[in-house]
Amino acid sequence: MTDQKTLDTAKVMVDFNQMKSFGQDPLVLERGVGVRVWDVFGKEYIDGLSGVFTVNLGHGMSQFADVAAEQMRTLSFSAPTMSTNPPAIKLAEYLCSLVPDQFNTVKFASGGSEANEFAIKMARQYHAQTGNPRKYKVISRWGSYHGSTGFAGAASAQPEWKSKYDPYPEGFIHVPRRTPEDIEEAIVGENAESIAAVIAEPVMLSAGVRVPDPDYFPKLREICDRHNVLLIFDEIITGFGRTGHIFAAEMFGVWPDILSCGKGISGGYAPLAAILIADKVANAFWGDPAQGIQFLSGHTYGGNPVSCAVGEAVVRYLVENDVVGNAQRVGNYLADGLRDLGERQPAISEVRGVGMMRCLAFHEPIGRAVYSACRRNGLLTRPAHDWIGVAPPLVTTEQEADEIIAIIEKSIPEALAG
Ligand SMILES: Cc1ncc(COP(=O)(O)O)c(C=O)c1O
Repeated sequence: MTDQKTLDTAKVMVDFNQMKSFGQDPLVLERGVGVRVWDVFGKEYIDGLSGVFTVNLGHGMSQFADVAAEQMRTLSFSAPTMSTNPPAIKLAEYLCSLVPDQFNTVKFASGGSEANEFAIKMARQYHAQTGNPRKYKVISRWGSYHGSTGFAGAASAQPEWKSKYDPYPEGFIHVPRRTPEDIEEAIVGENAESIAAVIAEPVMLSAGVRVPDPDYFPKLREICDRHNVLLIFDEIITGFGRTGHIFAAEMFGVWPDILSCGKGISGGYAPLAAILIADKVANAFWGDPAQGIQFLSGHTYGGNPVSCAVGEAVVRYLVENDVVGNAQRVGNYLADGLRDLGERQPAISEVRGVGMMRCLAFHEPIGRAVYSACRRNGLLTRPAHDWIGVAPPLVTTEQEADEIIAIIEKSIPEALAG
């Protein structure tokens, strides 16, 4: 165990946290095995959020360390500005084998924000290169989160996070998430001739784990096609089994033109993200150098050979070991248990979600207090104003799901007691 006294937690600025209060009760995680992690004080937690929807296979799988070490010894880096490498090509081939035939091109990034940044730029350039240079606006939904970089941040609609960085670039329109008709109204109202893309999380996490009606995305697909608007799915969270399907697109029977994915693609074992590009879009970037129609955006660690080698091993493990099936089965078991808890605990208003992506909503704004009580009691969750997110690794067993529910049951009265 690390001597905690030697760690100056104030040296690291932790995302979204006030460092002063973080330093008074820091969470400094040292190691993990399966669904469990331990902090530097030796306290054990169930990782009820898979890191942050990332550690889909659980912690401490040494086979991925071996893959990374082997690739580091072989080739640790290739410049994405002038080369690619076998692990990137193999991972791209494998990813394309998991999705319908129209996806044959992959562009790698190192995180979800970068992937969405690519998706938005690509949508604009696609229209410019297919005779519609005036199509540049991007529509997204209130409550969405697409990342914290420029365009991804502009597409996000989380007022309390965004407002510090105003002004964002223009050309980003936000609409309610209720119906696809809300989106069509915005497309028509803004003039369809100016709309490049709609970007949507198939299941919205930050908006409170919102699963749309089954006909939402089929209708939205039809609306986008009718107005020549590209559909981008942000599957950074939902991709790689989280919903009980490899991609949420499969669950809705609707495929986008660009699908961005990250997090679970490497299960937290390496920084990695990607966009899967449908041929319709990719073809607009295929030509002679003199045409100047190539995609002109990239990042140093995009397609890194170590990340891609780990990514391929992780995704193969996910597919070959029925991890996705487990996410569906144990996810439903977890949801049933949370609903039963809702019968016993009147503070709970609703259980929402799908697969291993659930949320417990409360009548009162006690989400953060429940999060803190759960943490004290050895469970990590996702705090929000009046809900907590529960999304453990996809390999979670029924017994571990029972443990999660028991800790939440114990924690709610503690939260209510202040
Ligand atoms: C739906 C969604 N999109 C994009 C992102 C941004 O990904 P990253 O933090 O890897 O940049 C996140 C991160 O949580 C996310 O939840």
